[in-house]
Amino acid sequence: MSIPTDQTDLPVFPAARSRRCPFDPSEQYTAWRQADGLQQVRLHNGGTAWVVSRYEDVRAVLADPRISADARRFPALRTNAEGVPAAFPRMDGADHAAVRRMLAGDFTVKRVTAMRSHIEELANGFLDEMIGTGAPADLVRAYALPVPSLVISLLLGVPYDDHALFQSHSNTLISVTATADKKAAAHKALFGYLLDLVTHKEKNPGDDLISRLLTDRVATGELSREETAMNSMILLFAGHETTANMIGLSTLALLENPEQAARIRDTDDEGVMANAVEELLCYLTIVQDKIHRVATEDLTIGGHQVRAGDLLTVNLPATNRDPAFLDHPDVLDITRNTRGHLAFGHGPHQCLGQQLARAELQIALPALLRRLPGLRLAIPFEDIKFRHDMSAYGVHALPVTW
Ligand code: HEM
Repeated sequence: MSIPTDQTDLPVFPAARSRRCPFDPSEQYTAWRQADGLQQVRLHNGGTAWVVSRYEDVRAVLADPRISADARRFPALRTNAEGVPAAFPRMDGADHAAVRRMLAGDFTVKRVTAMRSHIEELANGFLDEMIGTGAPADLVRAYALPVPSLVISLLLGVPYDDHALFQSHSNTLISVTATADKKAAAHKALFGYLLDLVTHKEKNPGDDLISRLLTDRVATGELSREETAMNSMILLFAGHETTANMIGLSTLALLENPEQAARIRDTDDEGVMANAVEELLCYLTIVQDKIHRVATEDLTIGGHQVRAGDLLTVNLPATNRDPAFLDHPDVLDITRNTRGHLAFGHGPHQCLGQQLARAELQIALPALLRRLPGLRLAIPFEDIKFRHDMSAYGVHALPVTW
C-alpha cells in the first residue's frame, strides 16, 4: 500500500488559503508543488489522499481515463443522500458523456451570446436597486449573488422567488466545515425541491431547460425523472455559487488594483475585457477543493507510484500559479495571456458552464465599475471575511460605498 499506515504524520487536508495575501493559494500547497509534486494528506474523516498541484501533473490526471470521477468509488467523500441518483459530473466515460451531451446545447458560445443583452439588462436592474437603496451595500447580497442566480434560474425554469432556499442549501453543500449529516440533509432537501419542480413541469411545461429535458429525454426513457432532478440540481448549484464568488472576489481584487480597474472601466474593446476575465479567473482560481478523483489502476504521476483505489485531489489555485505554466504568477495583470489556465478544470469534466460564466463576468464587472466610478470598500481590507471554509473561495460579504 502506498499510503503509510501511520496517518498521524500526514498534514491535514484541506489547508486554508494564504493569510498573508488572501488572493494567493495556501502556502502549504505552493510548498508541496515546489517540493515533491504529489503530497499525501489526511482527510477529516481519517482517510488519506494525494494532493496534486503541478500544472503538468494536473492536466495529466484530469485527462487520464484510468482516473475516475465516479463518487461510488470514494465513499469517504460522498455527500449524496441515500436513494438519490449520481449526478453526471460524478460519472465516467460513455455514461458521463451521454448526459453531458443532453445538457451542452444550452451552454454553447452561440446560446450564451444570444443571452448577453438579457444578462446585461438583469445586471443593470440589480445595480439600479442597489444604487436606489443607497450606500453602503453588501455587494455580494445586492449584486454578485443575484445576477448569476437569476440567470441560471431563468435558464432552468427554477422560480427565482425560491433563491433564499437554494442558495442556503448550496452554501451548506460546499461548506468545508459542515458535518456529513448536515450536508446530507441539505442534499436531500435540494433534491426534493427539484423533484417537486420536475413533477410540476410535467403538467405545466415552460420554455426552459428542465421542461425540454422532460419532453425530449424523460419521455424517450433516456433519463429518469430523478436523474433530471439531480442533474438540474447540479446546474442550479454550480451555476450560481461559482460565478457569484468570482464577481465578488474579482471586484475586491480590482479595488486593490485601481489602475487595472480603470482599464476595465474605460475600455469598450470586448477583447480587452475577455482577456481581463481570463486573468482574473486564473489569478483567483476560486474552485479550491472538491476536485476529487480515484485511480482505477496502479500508475505513476509526477514520478510517484499511485495505487489502484488511491484518492487524488487536485488543487487548482496552486496549479494556476505554477511558474512552469505562467511567468510571475503571483501578480495580477489583466493584459497578459493566460491561455491554458485550469480555473475551469480540464479534460472530460471541464466546466460545462464556462461560456456562461465568462459572459456573466464580462458583463457584470464593467457594468459595476462604470455605473459606480467611485466604488470603494466600506470597511478596512483586514476586516473582510474570506471563504476559507468553502470549496468555492470568495468573500462572505463585501461592504462597499461609492
Ligand atoms: C465543472 C469551475 C461556472 C456548471 C467545473 C469544474 C471547474 C469549474 C473547475 C471541473 C470540476 C472537476 O473537474 O471535477 C467553474 C468556475 C465557474 C463556473 C470557476 C465560474 C466562474 C459554472 C456555471 C455553470 C457550471 C455558470 C452552469 C451551469 C458546471 C458543471 C460542471 C462544472 C455542470 C461539471 C461538468 C462535468 O463533470 O462534465 N466548473 N465553474 N459552472 N461546472 Fe463550472
